[in-house]
Amino acid sequence: MKPTSTDKAPLRGPRLGVEIAGVRFKNPVLTASGTFGYGLEFAPYLDLNAIGGIVVKGLSMKPIAGNPPPRVYETASGMLNAIGWQNIGAAAFVAEKLPGLANYDTRVIVNIVGFELDEYLEVARFLNDCPGVHALELNISCPNVGKGGFHFNKDPRDTHKITAEVRRASPRLPLWVKLSPNVTDIREFARAAEEAGADALSVINTLVGMAIDVHSRRPRLRFRTGGLSGPAIKPVALRMVWEACQAVRIPVIGIGGIATAEDALEFLIAGARAVQVGTANFYEPAVSERIALGLGEYCRAHRIDDIHEIIGSLRDYE
Ligand SMILES: Cc1cc2nc3c(=O)[nH]c(=O)nc-3n(C[C@H](O)[C@H](O)[C@H](O)COP(=O)(O)O)c2cc1C
Repeated sequence: MKPTSTDKAPLRGPRLGVEIAGVRFKNPVLTASGTFGYGLEFAPYLDLNAIGGIVVKGLSMKPIAGNPPPRVYETASGMLNAIGWQNIGAAAFVAEKLPGLANYDTRVIVNIVGFELDEYLEVARFLNDCPGVHALELNISCPNVGKGGFHFNKDPRDTHKITAEVRRASPRLPLWVKLSPNVTDIREFARAAEEAGADALSVINTLVGMAIDVHSRRPRLRFRTGGLSGPAIKPVALRMVWEACQAVRIPVIGIGGIATAEDALEFLIAGARAVQVGTANFYEPAVSERIALGLGEYCRAHRIDDIHEIIGSLRDYE
């Protein structure tokens, strides 16, 4: 029997690759900062080559111990954390972790933190010259520190200023700005970051929350308040991602409560170019690989050749 043209067609899966500010990701599933260590810790549990990228824990120039415990508390469909900025410092990361990450075919995005503007600039300048770092994620949205961080996300003018300065300090690396949901209108902050030269936005960080032990009458966290994450925040995150996508032209990366391929698809349909998986890593370390596989299965089941057919494809009612 003569082969038909379909017989000869190579067996190719759907194309899941996306590009963000000139950087190609093999699929749009990344892991969120602070929930996946420096990436290598998770290598025993999943194939790091199977995910688009890893956003490492927020790095400062000098190591930081973080807040004293208790600093994590489980809530309904989520968790509160007040880890603070515990990290090994940028130089130790580059010397001890980055070489190991280079063995994997995945992208490495470094989340950066600082108590003062100068500290952000110092770490941005340092990382600019480090091969193996593919982008910076500027964390101005952490609610669990007394100074810095979230304080640049209270007024769009401050967001503009820090974005512009970090942009100048690190001209080689694409700059993603990670925004806080603890604002009245996220679109104002999204526009401010875009105007100041951000290449992409990461939306959202955690929502400020609180829990109290009624027996001791103490807050469950020593910091008193903490950042709420996990499935509980997904509808809020999805709404904010959709709003940010309407407000700017730069790519938006969706974050918040993603635990399944269907969750990720909601964010992509709302307009996100990629997604990050956070809290779900704590109870299912291989969840990001499963989500990436699930996106492929969804595309095959719906005869979608390219993930871009899904991105921003939200339909309205007639
Ligand atoms: C324990 C913990 C630590 C975190 N550390 C950071 C961090 O260092 N930098 C940052 O930008 N976001 C940090 N985040 C926020 C997450 O990256 C993510 O934005 C948030 O948890 C929402 O996603 P999720 O619901 O999938 O967890 C942290 C979250 C958790 C739960």
